[in-house]
Amino acid sequence: MTKVLSIVNAKGGVAKTTSTLGIGYALKEMGMKVLLVDLDAQANLTTSVGISPREELNISDALLDNCKITEVIREANGVDIAYSGHSLISRENAVAHSVTGAAKLRSILKKVKDRYDYVIIDCPPSLGIYTVNALIASDKVYIPMVAEPFAWNGLDKMLETVDIIVEEELNPKLKLGGLFFTNHSKNAQTILGKTIVKEAQDQLGDRVLKTAIRTNVALNECLVMNQDVFSYAPDSNGAKDYRALTKEIVNS
Ligand SMILES: Nc1ncnc2c1ncn2[C@@H]1O[C@H](COP(=O)(O)OP(=O)(O)O)[C@@H](O)[C@H]1O
Ligand SMILES: [Mg+2]
Repeated sequence: MTKVLSIVNAKGGVAKTTSTLGIGYALKEMGMKVLLVDLDAQANLTTSVGISPREELNISDALLDNCKITEVIREANGVDIAYSGHSLISRENAVAHSVTGAAKLRSILKKVKDRYDYVIIDCPPSLGIYTVNALIASDKVYIPMVAEPFAWNGLDKMLETVDIIVEEELNPKLKLGGLFFTNHSKNAQTILGKTIVKEAQDQLGDRVLKTAIRTNVALNECLVMNQDVFSYAPDSNGAKDYRALTKEIVNS
């Protein structure tokens, strides 16, 4: 059965896109068929795999029934990508007010889902209509987090949004897959960093994944080279950590 995972955090810069790529290409390395979905108007995921974001014909066209989802999917280094474009911003209202609104992504993914072992959705830094679409389409939600001041802000709201989606039966099977720390540097060893990690463990227990992704330059460098980190630097800490995280995700 295909598993659909959303990578969600209302904050920007917490490695949602880096993690979508890291988990997606780690799954590919494990022999899985993978579809990545870029739901962010900034289209960083799209650009990262060497696709130029397009105003016309992107994932928002599929959400508005202007085209089929297969028309906005391209292959990049062995993984399929449903790509984004800047027009997602101006189309937010149109998507929200369409008949299928927040359930549209689930409906269009149904048509292609069976071709894949995993679908991973990279969300924008908000809890707006695109993120809600992702949550309704998903089996599990994963929250990347950086152990920095204010990291905790907004987490309650995200967990509450997941609860509402389950309780209101918009997607009763949605589960919190877990929270994981990203860009984990020396700062994480400070009192502040340790307090944030402990706070997460106190609130979420074993839903805090064991693997933290260390700060690693290969995760940035590979983007410039238009490669995934596993092809670019297979022995880097970035590749090792995303492999370990992905194993945890697959086995949970
Ligand atoms: N583990 C890491 N090591 C080094 N740089 C990282 C790491 N994770 C993310 N980054 C960098 O941090 C920035 C923000 O990451 P990104 O994935 O774009 O966040 P988001 O999608 O949540 O906005 C990017 O420049 C990215 O390359
Ligand atoms: Mg992003």
